[in-house]
Amino acid sequence: QKDGFDWFMRKEIHEQPRALADTLLGRYATDGSLTLDEIRIATSELRSIQRIVIIGCGTAHYAGMVAKYAIEHWTRIPCEVELASEFRYRDPIVGPQTLVVAISQSGETADTLMAIRHAREQGSKVLAICNTNGSTIPRESDAVIYTHAGPEIGVASTKGFLTQVLACYLLGLYLAQVKSTKFGEEIVAIMHELETMPELVQEVLDNQQQVLELAADFADEPSVLFLGRHVGFPVALEGALKLKELAYIHAEGFAAGELKHGPIAVIDQDLPVFVVVPPRGRDMLHDKVVSNIQEIRARGARTIVLAEQDDEAVEQYADVLIRLPKVQTLLQPLVATVPLQIFACELATQKGHDVDQPRNLAKSVTVE
Ligand code: M6R
Repeated sequence: QKDGFDWFMRKEIHEQPRALADTLLGRYATDGSLTLDEIRIATSELRSIQRIVIIGCGTAHYAGMVAKYAIEHWTRIPCEVELASEFRYRDPIVGPQTLVVAISQSGETADTLMAIRHAREQGSKVLAICNTNGSTIPRESDAVIYTHAGPEIGVASTKGFLTQVLACYLLGLYLAQVKSTKFGEEIVAIMHELETMPELVQEVLDNQQQVLELAADFADEPSVLFLGRHVGFPVALEGALKLKELAYIHAEGFAAGELKHGPIAVIDQDLPVFVVVPPRGRDMLHDKVVSNIQEIRARGARTIVLAEQDDEAVEQYADVLIRLPKVQTLLQPLVATVPLQIFACELATQKGHDVDQPRNLAKSVTVE
């Protein structure tokens, strides 16, 4: 069943190009329009949405964080992201004009389920992004976008995350199309880029040797930091979560812009720092993150930098440089997360841990 891989997780990492292709399949017509048949919410209702609240736990929550950047940018609908476990206990303000998007691979996570029940009681429409056909969360939602990742057996979510992010992009583009925002015109171009993603993720997988070798140096590290900005921030959080749950190493993800507001105090020669560098776009994000790397380097820390191909500006500040395929900023999580998954899986393997069944964790958290 593991198709020759040592772990289900490693197999699932390698299935990601196929999982992305299947999640895209049939959802994009040649005339440039998106069809999401499972959205059983009337177009008129979708047009009247004033606010989107995305909820999820763990990795699904990080997928929601990526989604916020993309959905707000494309639709201009205000979008919030919240941990389902916080949402359900704080008397949230939602109602008929709020669309609640619940992200869950298993469709059975107790906190997410309770949160959607609460949202529906307040009159909100709930749309589930889910990987498990017929599970409770989609059954209790008004609409669903299924991710077609196939069964995810490893406790650590990998293809689940990538396909959740992709489904969120599809939702954002669909809403932009329905609302005819100015980004409606860009949908065709973005969809074309999304269609190349399976190939680009395969490229990352084909170049994994460097990441596998890097893991060997980390067996005795007690602590690792991950920095990212914009959509790179949830990628950093996801990289840290993978390391915690699989390698049992203390790891933290930070927003790079927060460095001077505290985290820089812990940086010294004993703390390796992974940095996700945004593509060189029209904005200043790239240069700001590059200067963060310089600041980290100046304090003696080892820098492991993930940056797009031919980004020369980072070369002199990176102890290890992991090259990523060129994509637009909003789509970068799909390629930038993969080396971090491989790294955590490999490090845990080298430490002799059970990668598929990490200690103290269950695949779906059906109790609080
Ligand atoms: O099944 P769900 O997507 O609702 O699960 C949510 C989290 O429990 C899950 O993503 C968890 O954080 C993973 N083990 C992370 O790898």
